[in-house]
Amino acid sequence: MTKKVILTGDRPTGKLHIGHYVGSLKNRVELQNSGDYDTFIMIADQQALTDNARDPEKIRHSLIQVALDYLAVGIDPAKSTILIQSQIPALNELTMHYLNIVSVARLNRNPTVKTEIKQKAFGESVPAGFFIYPVSQAADITAFKADTVPVGDDQEPMLEQTREIVRSFNHIYNQDILVEPTGYFPPKGMGRIPGLDGNAKMSKSLNNAIYLSDDADTVAKKVMSMYTDPEHIQVSDPGHVEGNTVFTYLDIFDPDKKQVAQLKEQYQAGGLGDVKIKRYLNEVLESVLAPIRERRTKYAQNLDYVYQVLQEGSQKANQVANQTLDEVRGAIGINYFK
Ligand code: TRP
Repeated sequence: MTKKVILTGDRPTGKLHIGHYVGSLKNRVELQNSGDYDTFIMIADQQALTDNARDPEKIRHSLIQVALDYLAVGIDPAKSTILIQSQIPALNELTMHYLNIVSVARLNRNPTVKTEIKQKAFGESVPAGFFIYPVSQAADITAFKADTVPVGDDQEPMLEQTREIVRSFNHIYNQDILVEPTGYFPPKGMGRIPGLDGNAKMSKSLNNAIYLSDDADTVAKKVMSMYTDPEHIQVSDPGHVEGNTVFTYLDIFDPDKKQVAQLKEQYQAGGLGDVKIKRYLNEVLESVLAPIRERRTKYAQNLDYVYQVLQEGSQKANQVANQTLDEVRGAIGINYFK
């Protein structure tokens, strides 16, 4: 039986946080361990450079942080191929070929890119590379003939764009070379966890994240600073659990659902203090984070090994992507010397 193929990735613009963990990393490890997939995990440094061309050091530094985060959560180089986007030249050529079959008008309609362009306040200076990154992402996915792409909801437009490119390409060149991918999205409600401040999004720019690399003291301090229920002032006051970040985190991280239900009841009735419930949450988080942190520290002391993993993964990825590129060149008829 031929295995299904997964390709997914992250832009290396910073360290990964527990939002990445529950939203994607945990799921990737499960998919990897299921044995049903050939798994490619890409550190998309070139995509990160599309809006960071003037700060390549940030990307270079973040790349190794992301690699450490991957290994720490259990992405296993013996089971998954971890690769660096910029080290796979075939992706660039595929992007160029696909650009010829995508219109500027179509790219202008991508809702995720539209939102990002607004957020990033480029003004009149949207980098052309940024504008076309959905096409480069189509190259990422198709180069590996991935049929399964585990990503967050915001990546659906990239998948739609990729499917269109696949259909156009196969149709125009009358071949069945490229594979249409399906998105694999986290179950509703699990995709995103709020920030420490209760903001719907956990992110570096909002300064409301717990990182996989945070030490135990830092995590404890962050938990103690978390947003709860502004009306819960005295321990004896009845409190709200909806929209209370501490309980949202417990719902996500505490495997003991009965315990969480009891604590919620107690909090709502009054008599359970914020400090106490936060201490409990900290313990729950530590049981998840401590083993991750321990592995991360171990790998951080052996960066030569980490770079070796990335190099070997990129080598393997090059073989696969070059094969696809050969087929694509053949289909277009620009394989003159074959
Ligand atoms: N755009 C993705 C993100 O911002 C990262 C990414 C790059 C990616 N290439 C990919 C995701 C290919 C899935 C498949 O998170």
